[in-house]
Amino acid sequence: MKLSKAVIPAAGLGTRFLPATKAQPKEMLPVVDKPAIQYVVEEAIGAGINNILIITGRGKRSLADHFDRSFELEHYLKRANKLDELNGVIEISELANFYFARQPEPLGLGNAILISQSYVANDSFVVLLADDLMAPESTVLREMSEIHSKTGSAILALKEVSQDEISLYGCVGFEKTDDSNVVRITSVVEKPDLRTAPSNLAIMGRYIFNSDIFSYLAELKPGKMGELQLTDAISSYLENSEVLGYVFTSGRYDIGNKVDYLRTNFEFALNRSDLREDFLVILKELSDKYL
Ligand code: UTP
Repeated sequence: MKLSKAVIPAAGLGTRFLPATKAQPKEMLPVVDKPAIQYVVEEAIGAGINNILIITGRGKRSLADHFDRSFELEHYLKRANKLDELNGVIEISELANFYFARQPEPLGLGNAILISQSYVANDSFVVLLADDLMAPESTVLREMSEIHSKTGSAILALKEVSQDEISLYGCVGFEKTDDSNVVRITSVVEKPDLRTAPSNLAIMGRYIFNSDIFSYLAELKPGKMGELQLTDAISSYLENSEVLGYVFTSGRYDIGNKVDYLRTNFEFALNRSDLREDFLVILKELSDKYL
């Protein structure tokens, strides 16, 4: 069955970005000139998904406003004859069917996804985290979707990370399969220290689940950092069902912390034909001044 539903959890507190996230969602921080979450929404649409549920929380109204019509703004843009901007603004609200649900308390990613249960019903669904952006040409989600439609199994996006990064991610133990890009996951551990990490393959914020994951999410107890962890639900799910991993090597940008966020902005700007030339001049000036 074709995947048509995505869930984007965006109810976290974004503490690594304070004070920027005191009164605005981390997922609305811009990468060049678009909020991070819009890239993720566009990625889902590119993989053929047209229903998108965003899990929001307190202080997250701007997320719903961003994907809604804005008649006042549209009126002024029309009057000022800024027609490209006008079309750009209207297009955002027409990208997909948007749904919003609130997570009453930021109890953890596992709990945020549990909120999507009645929306998902009995379908398979995709989860995308706005902490990870994929390059516009990335085919990761489409490949995952194809593997899911062939196997019916849950599937996670995986990427090799260096030894000093492993403790920042959910990490998997695995067995090889006949396909060099696909592994069978045997264990998952949230943010392991280097000594206990089962491998250096880390989960990268793209997941496809069957609806039977919800019974495991509903059973979650506080795990690492006292949060209801998605990885703990996957760990229990693994005992009864197959979970595959799709291993990819490039085209992923981290925006979950300040330094990688800055880097992502630089790279995205350098890949924009309207900005590249001017921005390169500035980079050269900065490197002469600071390096
Ligand atoms: P993160 O742990 O990266 O987000 O969760 P965070 O907690 O907001 O960030 P920091 O660590 O405090 O800076 C990954 C995604 O899951 C969502 C977040 O909004 C983020 O997009 N999330 C997390 C929820 O929706 N609810 C939660 O209870 C926790």
